[in-house]
Amino acid sequence: MYAGTLDTVPTPFYLYDTKLLADTLDELRREACTSEPLHIHYAVKANANPVILRQIAAAGFGADCVSGGEIRAALDAGFPAAGIVFAGVGKADWEIRLALESNIAAFNVESREEMAVIEELAAAMGRTARVCLRINPNVGAHTHANITTGLAENKFGIDMADMLPTIQQAQASPHLSFEGLHFHIGSQIEEMDDFCALARKVNELLSTLAASGIMPRIVNVGGGLGINYCHPHGTQLVPRFRDYFDVYRHELRLKPGQEFHCELGRAIVAQMGSLITRVLYVKHGRHKRFAIVDAGMTELIRPALYDAHHCIETMSIEGRSIHFGNEGATETYDIVGPICESSDVFARDRAMPPLCRGQLLAIRSAGAYGEAMASTYNCRPLPKAYTMKELLSAAHANA
Ligand code: LLP
Repeated sequence: MYAGTLDTVPTPFYLYDTKLLADTLDELRREACTSEPLHIHYAVKANANPVILRQIAAAGFGADCVSGGEIRAALDAGFPAAGIVFAGVGKADWEIRLALESNIAAFNVESREEMAVIEELAAAMGRTARVCLRINPNVGAHTHANITTGLAENKFGIDMADMLPTIQQAQASPHLSFEGLHFHIGSQIEEMDDFCALARKVNELLSTLAASGIMPRIVNVGGGLGINYCHPHGTQLVPRFRDYFDVYRHELRLKPGQEFHCELGRAIVAQMGSLITRVLYVKHGRHKRFAIVDAGMTELIRPALYDAHHCIETMSIEGRSIHFGNEGATETYDIVGPICESSDVFARDRAMPPLCRGQLLAIRSAGAYGEAMASTYNCRPLPKAYTMKELLSAAHANA
């Protein structure tokens, strides 16, 4: 009986199922290796844990970075510089220099002002910077307002009206090499019609450019494929990449020599991660029963920031496997963290089995934008992370 053996493992911590990640990467590779290969850059911002990054790099994917720190993390994990792209509306000079020194594949440039700085720094270093222009396609996505990025009102990308002159400016510079176009309309997108709308807009833009004799080599549609947060179980665990790629295969009209690139983050890593926490107390309020847990918005900010839903299950170790489940969910709780903020709530009125002090809970689908967005607010330490194998060895060592 190993149920008590996690008693001495401090919580909260992230638990990563690297077998599920391997299955997800296998599925992605199967879909990507077609006669016209797809170029997939993993969005490092979703999860930059070195163990996870190394596994994704070893599977042969590229990386999409948004800071100098992410470029370093990607290079350290073994992503080849030739597979790294660098986006972000505000790139600092040292980050641009690092990207140039590292000879990454391309900058995803978000404004003419940024492009002028890249040109100046590249000239000073005697280099040529490869650039893709991130165009704001004014295409909405059916997702939370805070993670919609492709509308004209958002800060991201270059306005479509400025696309042609900006490309011509890049083409005229000896220190810039124009490589292609980049887009990203938002994240946690579950409606394939949104990607379809983007593909059609991209076709329009490509025709406009063709009329001026311009053929971008790279067409990067960004990321955004959502996952099922309500059912992190069984066949739902590996996302349906085929449906996503089929949208682009059917809708996007690329010419021979044009490459399809994308930047998936969440869909690759969300389901393989859980945040493990312990119930500290069950507090009986006037109207509610609160399960107060030792993880808070400092470890997982998504519910506080986006009202995000995460499935929460009790966790136990059975033999050599870890079990998540809510059998006998007969009571309702607000599951809340210890942070001094009213928004530090993981779930309201959630049906759970009767909870008591010490019960381990798994906040599921937390592999993306979980550990990566953790903070030290309230002087809390950053959470540790274990793979399943590491946790089971810790449990058995304690048995
Ligand atoms: N490419 C660009 C330019 C991006 O801005 C993003 C995400 C991605 C790719 C990857 O998107 P994904 O495939 O993961 O949807 N913290 C929020 C999500 C923010 C996404 C930011 N950009 C959350 O927890 O839902």
